[in-house]
Amino acid sequence: MKDKICVVGLGYVGLPLAHAFSEKYEIVGFDINKPRIDELNSGFDRTQELTSEQVKESLKNGMKFTLNIDDIKDCNIYIVTVPTPIDENNEPDLTPIVKSTEAIGKILKKDDIVIYESTVYPGVTEEVCVPILEKESGLKFNESFFCGYSPERINPGDKEHTVTKILKITSGSTPEIAKKVDNLYKSIITAGTHLAPTIKVAEAAKVIENTQRDVNIALINELAMIFDLMNINTHDVIEAAATKWNFINLKPGLVGGHCIGVDPYYLTHKAQSLGYMPNLILGARQINNGMSKLIADKAIKKMVKFDKKLKNANVLVLGVTFKENCPDMRNSKVMDIIKELQEFECSVEVHDYWVDKSDKESKYLNFVDALPLNSRKYDSIIVAVGHDKFKEITTEDYKNMSNGEPIIIDVKGIVEKPTWRL
Ligand SMILES: NC(=O)c1ccc[n+]([C@@H]2O[C@H](COP(=O)([O-])OP(=O)(O)OC[C@H]3O[C@@H](n4cnc5c(N)ncnc54)[C@H](O)[C@@H]3O)[C@@H](O)[C@H]2O)c1
Repeated sequence: MKDKICVVGLGYVGLPLAHAFSEKYEIVGFDINKPRIDELNSGFDRTQELTSEQVKESLKNGMKFTLNIDDIKDCNIYIVTVPTPIDENNEPDLTPIVKSTEAIGKILKKDDIVIYESTVYPGVTEEVCVPILEKESGLKFNESFFCGYSPERINPGDKEHTVTKILKITSGSTPEIAKKVDNLYKSIITAGTHLAPTIKVAEAAKVIENTQRDVNIALINELAMIFDLMNINTHDVIEAAATKWNFINLKPGLVGGHCIGVDPYYLTHKAQSLGYMPNLILGARQINNGMSKLIADKAIKKMVKFDKKLKNANVLVLGVTFKENCPDMRNSKVMDIIKELQEFECSVEVHDYWVDKSDKESKYLNFVDALPLNSRKYDSIIVAVGHDKFKEITTEDYKNMSNGEPIIIDVKGIVEKPTWRL
């Protein structure tokens, strides 16, 4: 029988994956978000991971985007790419994983394979999802149906490392299924695959990739705070230290988004449930979460130093997405900078040419359009995101945009003559 694949969850991860599979397989894309399905059927991807031509190409290849569970009943491979967020207490929120697994369980048939791609802690596939699949389907795991786990490593906004060009970790619930899952991905991933020995190893590998990055960035952020007290420029220190071959060359900054700032909490949750307190990982999270306040405080202190009135001070924030050159605002730590400034009753305006202003995340923000913004004068400007166009703003532009003494807070190290640089 020829495989028929269903990708469940058509976001940043699911859509490019479905597109890649559509070139070789019969495929259906399933999502519960009607506006998303309507947009995709009209050839538009608001995440900008695929161009309109690519979305239309998928449709031409026979891909169906659907909300209707009946449309996915005849698939034999289900690939789950739903969100894995955290709640307000930084605990894993498995609701989308559980709900999508329940839906798949209801239509699961003999010999079907369910592969999870969402980032989770080790054990979610076999300890959380498998019991749901067994209960909903009445089928027995590893006899009548099987599972796999293959984490996604894409980087939103990165047009070079796209899904098929990143080596993919694969795994399966039996040696035969592991081979089948591996071959499935090998057929579309030109960078190749790494078959992990177990599903838990594959789950753990993904979650530590982002945890390692988070901890390393936290170290650099802590060093930046220490060097700030010493009046030493952190970027100069890093440039010098990076001349050693094994120095990990990271820059200080905000850690937002829904991966690096979130995934470590999945691991710490599981560690704590097993009686281990992961102090290093949680400490790193605390440092990285504290950077927004530090940046806002710098802007406030500089305004006080230059005799600017804080109440109703005009502050411009350049960039509000969680990273450069992408429209994704989820869990952006720039929002925390803005909130902190608003607590001092500053009037904050935002300019970000990447953001879709109709996005729910952006609806409380006061946007100004078009650079250079010479029509308005600001008491302080915070360059929060390193979007390409922001690198073109000159010292003269900043001067023209400033009310009196320019106070330019440079979070990304892209301003020629900043007042303060992280
Ligand atoms: N975005 C990335 O760069 C990235 C990279 C690697 C891994 N991941 C991981 O991949 C997973 C997906 O992330 P994303 O960024 O694509 O999320 P996303 O929010 O962009 O997309 C998820 C999609 O799933 C849909 N969905 C939610 N519940 C559903 C359900 N019950 N049934 C069907 N569809 C449902 C949503 O409507 C949405 O369209 C997460 O676990 C994330 O941590 C993301």
